[in-house]
Amino acid sequence: MKIFNSINEFCNSQLDIESFVPTMGNLHEGHLSLINTAKKNSKNICVSIYVNKNQFTNKKDFDSYPITLDEDIYKLEKAGVNYLLNPCKDDIENNSSPFDAKFEPKYLTNDLCGKYRKGHFLAVMDIVHRLFQIVNPKNIILGEKDYQQIFVIKELIEIYNYNIKIITSPTIREKGSGLALSSRNSLLTAEQKKMASEIYKALQLSAILYADNVPLDQIKDKIYEIFEQLPIEIEYFTFRDLKTLQQANDNDLIALIAGYLGNVRLIDNIIVKSKTNL
Ligand code: PAF
Repeated sequence: MKIFNSINEFCNSQLDIESFVPTMGNLHEGHLSLINTAKKNSKNICVSIYVNKNQFTNKKDFDSYPITLDEDIYKLEKAGVNYLLNPCKDDIENNSSPFDAKFEPKYLTNDLCGKYRKGHFLAVMDIVHRLFQIVNPKNIILGEKDYQQIFVIKELIEIYNYNIKIITSPTIREKGSGLALSSRNSLLTAEQKKMASEIYKALQLSAILYADNVPLDQIKDKIYEIFEQLPIEIEYFTFRDLKTLQQANDNDLIALIAGYLGNVRLIDNIIVKSKTNL
């Protein structure tokens, strides 16, 4: 794997990247499955590691974000990645133009997670826009765990008319507990990890209840009731249209959840379908 710390060197190499996997490092099986998805679809794969401070809406969250560059490089080498782009802030900013905030799709960026993390998705749009200018890939590989992020990047691609295809990859879960893999899980104690598995259990229950034709409002009440008894503070639990992420009461839906366990913010989702579609 060739490692680029300099954007000039990266661009001068004219790499013709097929699939791009942007990350903030602290790589886990979830990232490796994105890389596997990339490998199934393409040959020339570039992973980026850049911890984008602007997208952290909580200073503590940024300060505690785990940095594990040596381990990450080892994992990427083993996974057969071709290029790692590991740039610094100034280098990125000097070699790309920012996302123009007048295009911000506020209906999306201020919704769900964006309602609780002001400015988060605008900062994601900015960094991905900058990375697109530098990497110029044919595909971007994104995880379904960050379901709203997929829609945000879809908007970015439409706004700037990028010829980039989004390839999504399923959420990877811990065996047994079902906890969705996330870099933030490493901040949880063993006890908290056990507790965090209640999030996926609740999502599974919501899918079962929906398949049993229980009305959405009743399912929501049930899920909020469950978390009242647990030390997980729910920000939102809701159903949305699977294909548009907009409010919906029928069709194929996705249930999305976000909450805090201690200082750690966790998100997850599950696709739910009506009985007739199962
Ligand atoms: O999903 C992430 O890890 C980040 O939001 C991304 C896409 C790398 C942008 O910083």
